[in-house]
Amino acid sequence: MSNLKARMTIDPAYRLAETDPRIYGSFIEHLGRAVYGGIYDPSHPTADEDGFRQDVIDLVKELNVPIVRYPGGNFVSGYRWEDGVGPVEQRPVQLDLAWRSLEPNRVGLNEFARWAKKANSQVMMAVNLGTRGIEEAKQIVEYCNHPGGSYWSDLRRKHGIEQPHGIRVWCLGNEMDGPWQIGHKTADEYGRLAQEAAKVMKWVDPSIELVACGSSGSKMATFPDWERIVLEHAYDEVDYLSLHTYYGNRDGDLANFLACSLDMDAFIRAVVATCDFVRAKKRSNKTIYLSFDEWNVWFHSNEADKQVEPWQVGPPLLEDVYTMEDALVVGCMLITLLKHADRVRIACLAQLVNVIAPIMTENGGPSWRQTIFYPFAHASNLAHGVVLYAPVESPKYDSKDFTDVPYLEAVPVWNEAAGEMVLLAVNRAEEPLALDVDLRGFPNARSEEHIVLTHPNMKAVNTKERPNEVVPQKRSIGAVDAGRLAVELPALSWNVIRIRV
Ligand code: AHR
Repeated sequence: MSNLKARMTIDPAYRLAETDPRIYGSFIEHLGRAVYGGIYDPSHPTADEDGFRQDVIDLVKELNVPIVRYPGGNFVSGYRWEDGVGPVEQRPVQLDLAWRSLEPNRVGLNEFARWAKKANSQVMMAVNLGTRGIEEAKQIVEYCNHPGGSYWSDLRRKHGIEQPHGIRVWCLGNEMDGPWQIGHKTADEYGRLAQEAAKVMKWVDPSIELVACGSSGSKMATFPDWERIVLEHAYDEVDYLSLHTYYGNRDGDLANFLACSLDMDAFIRAVVATCDFVRAKKRSNKTIYLSFDEWNVWFHSNEADKQVEPWQVGPPLLEDVYTMEDALVVGCMLITLLKHADRVRIACLAQLVNVIAPIMTENGGPSWRQTIFYPFAHASNLAHGVVLYAPVESPKYDSKDFTDVPYLEAVPVWNEAAGEMVLLAVNRAEEPLALDVDLRGFPNARSEEHIVLTHPNMKAVNTKERPNEVVPQKRSIGAVDAGRLAVELPALSWNVIRIRV
């Protein structure tokens, strides 16, 4: 019997928004072993005819990622995309100053588009607005999306790609507010450039959607003026504003770490408010949506990265090995994104393979699922449809940086067509939580399945040697009785409760 009790009411009348499948996007940057040794390893036993690891493609498909941001990240701000197209043997090897690595350009945008198709995904392409500008942005859209009969589109055809890639979502640079960025800009400088680049890119292909850079984090001194100023310039030309955030349990304070999704929630609310402030100021009818195109836990590898030798191809950078507690935080972040599905249309777990990633590989060896793979895979495979507002009554706690942290973090997603409701829930408490779900709004509700991810040791990880140390388990679930479902959420657990409705 649990002493902690929480209640929630799930009713079909309280519709928040339809989920956009792209909320389950991810990210592959030319960074560390994401591309070289991750998705691409021609000498690997599972490599296909294009040099892509089939075992990795299979895991990406299992993760169900509808869109993948590419090629960066900080990398894109010094990247010449032309170096990565045409005959491979003629491509230059370049110094990548963002990550102090060697970029051999063996994989470029055409190869990546091919990989994405194999992985059942779309490409979300970033253009370089660090060292480059309007002209190159125009040229890459023409190369990728124009059917033919112009210099850049015919060059693509000459490179063997007859049909346009039809890339729909484009990022206008990356983290341009950050002093670490190649070609870092003030908000006014970036806002004007983003506006003009956007205008011209849409002249080439009016069907594209554009993401302007928001702040690289809510702790930046320029946040949220950055958002306001950028949108004052580019409001009419862009469709989304980006958000990035990473968390880490640096001081070993689990209760505080588990609460960090409250910071993500506040960040989203502040960006929505800023977008809507500019909307009001401009007397505009247009809504700017959010692209949370970098989010994750990132801190484990920080020290190790300082020891990595520069100027290698595919060095082992940002190789965080994720714990059970990290999986809980990723679960809380997923729930937070879904609770803002009315404004967050795109989100990218950063990243996908080897670099702060749910999928790890050994060069020439096996691949495996990190702990964070599971909450993401559950949500991306099961939580589609209408996100419902569901009032939660939960006991709360205070931590170092947060007050009133609910032990229960939860969101219901109703797939009307499939007749299924999925309740995603995290129990932040170190003891079981008795959850009472009021389902009277769904007269025929029937409990189906309860999947749990937890472990007696919050520092448990999956490794090459022990890839199944942290894996989801099924638990028995009681019946819905008089419109109520009683479920026990184990201490410190991620839960997927499936209900037929
Ligand atoms: O995802 C890793 C890095 O984090 C990205 O390159 C950059 O955009 C962010 O700072």
